[in-house]
Amino acid sequence: MSVAHPRRTQIPEPEEAPGAQRFLPAEHTLGAMRAAVVACQGCPLYRDATQAVFGEGVDHARVMMIGEQPGDSEDLAGKPFVGPAGHVLDAALAVAGIPRDEVYVTNVVKHFKFTRRGKRRIHDKPTQYEIAACRPWLVSELALVAPDIVVVLGATAAQSLLGRTFRVTKERGVERATPLAPHTFATVHPASVLRAPDEAQRQIAREAFFADLVMVGACYRRLRSTGMH
Ligand code: URA
Ligand code: SF4
Repeated sequence: MSVAHPRRTQIPEPEEAPGAQRFLPAEHTLGAMRAAVVACQGCPLYRDATQAVFGEGVDHARVMMIGEQPGDSEDLAGKPFVGPAGHVLDAALAVAGIPRDEVYVTNVVKHFKFTRRGKRRIHDKPTQYEIAACRPWLVSELALVAPDIVVVLGATAAQSLLGRTFRVTKERGVERATPLAPHTFATVHPASVLRAPDEAQRQIAREAFFADLVMVGACYRRLRSTGMH
């Protein structure tokens, strides 16, 4: 019996996926990046998505939250974390006492990847290849914002940024220094809170997520009080 290797079929031809680097603007500002990303064809994901969704927030935001990719609502709105997962994130930031205007939100992949099921567009996990192709945008955001605190949301983003063996379930809420930021945290993706099978489990997942962000809030206040900025 011959079994096709599923990974193989996902790897685009090199000429189809040159990576984002050649689409980066000469001007190294968030505004220039945001204007340029709309024309990115660094991997095939631009074809089916409505638009690229760049990060959002001021360039002096002290906290950067990095998710996986825009969802259905974000693809339509052109802004990150404005749909159901964004509402969970906003609630967690409020509980943690982290001011929303101190937070820059973005994703490791800027175009929505999905499969159609009837009228619905169901999120598809980006491949390591697509994440690598998109990385120049995130690298620019990290360089321009230079956040003191980075929070990586979900296993896909965490494994691509913190190593393939990284386990958010084990390491969630733990602060560490990484090349991303001197204070780096990882936690589950806020969308996973909504996917818990029943209301009781959703509640538990939501509280665990909030608790992780409370750790981030404590770090944020510690840095503020010691003269961060
Ligand atoms: N999920 C993400 O990872 N990012 C978004 O922007 C929205 C949902
Ligand atoms: Fe470019 Fe990233 Fe979109 Fe691929 S997902 S086309 S690399 S912006």
